[in-house]
Amino acid sequence: MGRQIAVFGTGYLGATHAACMAELGHEVIGVDIDEGKLAKLAAGELPFYEPGLPEVLRRNIDAGRLRFTTSYAEAADFADVHFVAVGTPQKQGELAADLRYVDAVIETLTPLIERPTVIFGKSTVPAGTAARLGARARQLAPTDAHVELAWNPEFLREGFAVKDTLHPDRIVLGIDHGRSTMAEDAARDIYKTLLDEGIPFIVTDLATAELVKTSANAFLATKISFINAIAEICEATGADVSLLADAIGHDARIGRRFLNAGIGFGGGCLPKDIRAFIAMAGELGAGQAFALLREVDSINMRRRNKMVELAREAAGGSFVGTRIAVLGAAFKPDSDDVRDSPALNIAGQIQLQGAAVSVYDPQAMENARQLFPTLRYAPDVLAACAGADVIMILTEWKQFISLSPAELATTVRQQIVIDGRNCLDAAVWRNAGWNYRGIGKP
Ligand code: UDX
Repeated sequence: MGRQIAVFGTGYLGATHAACMAELGHEVIGVDIDEGKLAKLAAGELPFYEPGLPEVLRRNIDAGRLRFTTSYAEAADFADVHFVAVGTPQKQGELAADLRYVDAVIETLTPLIERPTVIFGKSTVPAGTAARLGARARQLAPTDAHVELAWNPEFLREGFAVKDTLHPDRIVLGIDHGRSTMAEDAARDIYKTLLDEGIPFIVTDLATAELVKTSANAFLATKISFINAIAEICEATGADVSLLADAIGHDARIGRRFLNAGIGFGGGCLPKDIRAFIAMAGELGAGQAFALLREVDSINMRRRNKMVELAREAAGGSFVGTRIAVLGAAFKPDSDDVRDSPALNIAGQIQLQGAAVSVYDPQAMENARQLFPTLRYAPDVLAACAGADVIMILTEWKQFISLSPAELATTVRQQIVIDGRNCLDAAVWRNAGWNYRGIGKP
């Protein structure tokens, strides 16, 4: 039998979680304060691009297992399991996470609860948040309602959101050991299908669960900044960072994934999460974590400046009067997300320094235009590259990897290509007469 579940927040995380919980057979109500967003979702449309998710959304709306509301009272009445999946953005002008939306859910929801209920936090938060929210929930809940707060972090990647939710590498559950009587059973019940498949289930205390998520993201960020630091050494010595990554990646302790050197990480998670971690480490006086992560962040941000320098050099020493084609605006392929996108950041910097920049991305044009309205947006690759002095590949979309160097050569002013993601076959481009520059390779 399915459970009755409410999911608060219908952004990337919440919409995916709500649809996927319904897919597991539960009855789900998605709650948000944004009526426009809810109307779209209720009509089976996503406000963002995520392969496979629209189908799951529509299938479950049609089956009557998934609906949406702005009413907390309706959600409290309907469900005895609640997931908090609202955003925790970076605070304006600070490194720390802004927890106001998470707080608001607890403040609004708990006074309305009338029966034994578990609230699972999913959002990425600094350690200590769950304990604080649990205490607050106990304070606010009516005296006869038993409310438990547990933490069940989410590890989904954009572009793989459905797969990562329905077939995660692991499920982590942080519970308040002294108090909890229901959370673990509820989680085992909700995720039964997944647990039956043998997906590892790790029960921890609250702080550990919060830190698992933050540490996982920090480790991934560190891996990327590590290989980007090594790319610098490769450049200075004439070595090839891609081959080096293949070679060290064969060591199972290292692993090849997340060792692609390039213009660095961006997106709605890694940059803000690592900064929130830095802020937390600073507050806790954890000097070593603080210093390490700050360096990971600065290595990452320096990649963008280095890329601008590389382009300037390729353009002949100055951007003034030059035309630069930027292929890619999304922070990674198979996404329309441009939040903290290194590609757009680089495009913007180059334009501010005097070049005419023409951008094309297969999915992220609309979002990019909103964020950077002053860049020129071309309808396709050829139009973006027309008359270009330098072509820059800044997001490794399949479409760009399979471009024909011969065809592009007919439209550009100079055959110079900068491969910011090391995704092109250098030999093929060079054989077609191009001046090819990658990252960390000769
Ligand atoms: C990330 C985490 O992977 C996910 O577990 C977490 O829940 C949320 O944050 P996501 O933001 O979707 O997911 O993107 P991810 O695939 O991790 O890529 C992050 C950034 O790193 C992208 O900008 C990507 O281009 C960059 N990256 C990734 C590299 O520069 N090199 C690599 O080898 C891998």
